[in-house]
Amino acid sequence: MTLLDILPSLGRAAPPRFDSAIWPVTTRSDEDGRLSVGGVPLADIADEFGTPTYVIDETDFRRRARRYRKALRSVEVAYAGKSLLTTSVARWAREEGLGVDVCSAGELATAQAGGVDPARIIMHGNAKSPEELREATRIGVGRIVLDSDIEIAYLAGLARKRQRVLIRVTPDIDIHGHRALTTGISDQKFGFPLAGDHAADAVRRVLAHPILDLVGLHCHIGSQVTDAALYGEAIHRMIAAMADIRAAHGVILTELNIGGGHGIPYVAGESELDVDELARTIEDALDEACAAEHFPRPTIVVEPGRAISGRAGVTLYRVSSVKTQPGGRTFVAVDGGMSDNPRVSLYGAQYTVTLANRHASGVRGLVTVAGRHCEAGDEIARDVELPADVHPGDLLAVACTGAYHHSMASNYNMVGRPPLVAVKDGRARELVRRETIADLLSRDCG
Ligand code: LLP
Repeated sequence: MTLLDILPSLGRAAPPRFDSAIWPVTTRSDEDGRLSVGGVPLADIADEFGTPTYVIDETDFRRRARRYRKALRSVEVAYAGKSLLTTSVARWAREEGLGVDVCSAGELATAQAGGVDPARIIMHGNAKSPEELREATRIGVGRIVLDSDIEIAYLAGLARKRQRVLIRVTPDIDIHGHRALTTGISDQKFGFPLAGDHAADAVRRVLAHPILDLVGLHCHIGSQVTDAALYGEAIHRMIAAMADIRAAHGVILTELNIGGGHGIPYVAGESELDVDELARTIEDALDEACAAEHFPRPTIVVEPGRAISGRAGVTLYRVSSVKTQPGGRTFVAVDGGMSDNPRVSLYGAQYTVTLANRHASGVRGLVTVAGRHCEAGDEIARDVELPADVHPGDLLAVACTGAYHHSMASNYNMVGRPPLVAVKDGRARELVRRETIADLLSRDCG
């Protein structure tokens, strides 16, 4: 018997084990220390759908989408589907007034099946196939973002009606030093560098094809950006480029898409991009840059993915084994790992983990939460605090797994991908079912 069994009020008085900057907005802990999201105890979800399971809080997703719409009133917001996309998620984005950015035929079909108006779809990708370009023009997507010379040629050849396009450029903004991945510099695969003649050549090529309707420029400076000023800098450089295009061709581009990459915290103390500050920065940068170049204000488009879907998601794992190795580390192995979360091995990502099925009272210790895969680096989190009595059968919840988890999952070791379960107002609904061994074998042609 523990002190908590004798004095249950201790449990009620215990501080919540979740941080609202990291966990879904509806996360609660009940008297028994069981965590719930969207009014559904996570232990019940684990019982009903098994583990590992991705849980997504519809309220959190919608609230963050709404927050963008409210803070960025004169800006168009396109949700980046690469972070998380199912037909229901596409519908949530649509119902909250967001467009959707897609980067493959699969994402395009999902957005369409979710009822997103094609005119509000933006088609991306640095290596779109002719088939993907054909499909995008056929259904009439609002914008195709051109990323290479060959794409310009393909699209000009296969479009049957005038297609609105943007050119993706790299404004040479290096966000390193910021906890982030950089894509806005020249030495990487995306876009045409603004420096030199690369972007100017691309503009000339596009303008030479009347079937391509060049409406603007696009840039994406990177991931996990928390300093809004970097977007201000991008706007300055892009407006200057648009003014150069006007000078060279007499064409006034009316749209400036500054991409996504808005940073969120994964562990306590990390910063996030402040959406109100972003709104102010965009306004100020536009005012200044347009005045300096005497350029008419273009429509600004932003493409946040992670900032809308990231914190809505948690992953549930069942503890499979606990062992303390001679080196001193305690490994808490769970029934998932790098197949459902490749971000640790890819980016050294850090996560917040908590016990979800009971109070985490008593002594706590630092452990490594390890995955089930045949790879030494298969870890979910290192040096996280869990109760010393954590044992097989316990349920762990990992925060901030709404973005780039379901969408990046693999079948390593022939492990089926987890289901995606949406929670809202006390109800759980499966959006994507678990992949079975039969599913996996069905692709094996023998
Ligand atoms: N727009 C464009 C053109 C992009 O390339 C991306 C992300 C986004 C928008 C959305 O970025 P977000 O707001 O979600 O950061 N797998 C990495 C993230 C790669 C993102 C690539 N592009 C991760 O797990 O962190």
